[in-house]
Amino acid sequence: MTTTSTRDSLWHNFQERYLEVSDVGFALDLSGLKFTPTFQAEMEPKVQAAFRAMAELEGGAIANPDEGRQVGHYWLRDPHRAPSAAIRDAIVQTNQRILKFARAVHDGAFKPEKAPRFLNVAVVGIGGSALGPQFVSQALGEPSDPIRIFFVDNTDPEGIDLVVRKLGATAGGLAATLTIVISKSGGTKETRNGMVEMARAYQAAGLAFERHAVAVTQDGSELDKVAVSGKWLERFPMWDWVGGRTSELSAVGLLPAALQGLDVAGMLEGAKAMDGVTRNVDSRRNPAAQLALAWYHATGGRGQKDMVILPYKDRLELFSRYLQQLVMESLGKEKDLAGKTVHQGIAVYGNKGSTDQHAYVQQLRDGVHNFFVTFLEVLRDRREKSMEVEPGVTSGDYLDAFYQGTRRALHESGRETLTITIDEVSPRSVGALIALYERAVGLYASLIGINAYHQPGVEAGKKAAAGVLAVQAKLLAALRSRPGDGMTVEETAMASGVDDLETAFKVLRHAAANPDHGIERTPGASPFDARYRAR
Ligand code: PA5
Repeated sequence: MTTTSTRDSLWHNFQERYLEVSDVGFALDLSGLKFTPTFQAEMEPKVQAAFRAMAELEGGAIANPDEGRQVGHYWLRDPHRAPSAAIRDAIVQTNQRILKFARAVHDGAFKPEKAPRFLNVAVVGIGGSALGPQFVSQALGEPSDPIRIFFVDNTDPEGIDLVVRKLGATAGGLAATLTIVISKSGGTKETRNGMVEMARAYQAAGLAFERHAVAVTQDGSELDKVAVSGKWLERFPMWDWVGGRTSELSAVGLLPAALQGLDVAGMLEGAKAMDGVTRNVDSRRNPAAQLALAWYHATGGRGQKDMVILPYKDRLELFSRYLQQLVMESLGKEKDLAGKTVHQGIAVYGNKGSTDQHAYVQQLRDGVHNFFVTFLEVLRDRREKSMEVEPGVTSGDYLDAFYQGTRRALHESGRETLTITIDEVSPRSVGALIALYERAVGLYASLIGINAYHQPGVEAGKKAAAGVLAVQAKLLAALRSRPGDGMTVEETAMASGVDDLETAFKVLRHAAANPDHGIERTPGASPFDARYRAR
């Protein structure tokens, strides 16, 4: 039983740690974290240094030293803060063009080749060029939207086929589908492959891809060149000063959202409002600083605990996936800014409550204590009045009770939690959430002294894939040049000058499982004695 003094101290702690920002319809409750009394004061010099670094970044400093570029996602929602008139005008004009293009598509002024109007959009992109648009589309979409959105976000052939078949099954089919290829660099292979496969699908349906294609990319990129020479319908810019995972409020996110019929101005307003609040250098009144401090406290500033994101709202289910990239690609770094090996990061996972209470929340309450939870609470259950599912109780009351019950249960077993509350899921609150986390990540990166804006690990993965394809080319050439009984993995590798036998094994196994390269596999006494030959 809770004694009166415990009750009073919990209530006092809650009031101390509850920060409401009513003009953004937002509150942050950190009362579920066990801050030491001196933590905030000890961290204050670092927080002030992080604010100064952020102000320099917003002022146009080269804040990504490795890539020698500015970091300007904050200008996207407040172009007058851009460091030059050229950047400001580029943002304003692009946003106007996006709205104009979306209007023309909705009005039917921009028509597809063989259908009366566009009814679907297929977004081809990956990472920062897909996760934001996916999150926003699900958070704000309605069945009555003028356009349905589909995503090709991988180089998985079957995954692409499935999207093409789904598009084919819609009312207008592929003929009524606009494909937007999004890639900042314009050279990402997954996206290139998705584009090539989509182009083939249009061709197979007797349609000209270029009459249905739009690009979002940097001027002069490979993708840009394809779009120019192919005379695509439109091209929208990405700029080197916007990072992929902070590009949701650039053309990357605004174009799909505007086409879907979502209120992009509302999203920009919400982000701008949150930026205003999170520029406050009074760290106790700054929710992004408080969030960054909460992460620092909960993880020891070393990522020692995972961040579980638990929104009690179906519409926010993809928020954890979006944040997984924003947080882990930004903070997961080997070196700090001084070049010291630090292996930083915070692991992020989660789906939604109360659904996850029937999945992994059992472990959170009783199992290994290697996480802290971020609850997302949405006050408004639905637009209309709810029915009662039992006397005096609605489904929404249950959702709230499950959130509160889980929060309480976790506290009781000594787990740390924080809660973000928003009034409702709206364009404004979604924009505000994006802005909150973008800034919290930037501030946290400063607290731990790393560059949040580069991604050397992603580049390493791309290089390694290119190496595997080079090995594949050698192995296939060796098999083709030696017809006959075939060769084992070791013999094929030897004949092609490939040292890496494990890669050779996997490449040959994959090649023989598909009809594409004409490779046959005859099983042997063990998996390693199987023989491969070219048909
Ligand atoms: O955040 C990032 O920079 C990455 O995740 C990119 O968004 C991702 O690799 C896709 O890159 P691009 O947009 O250049 O195709």
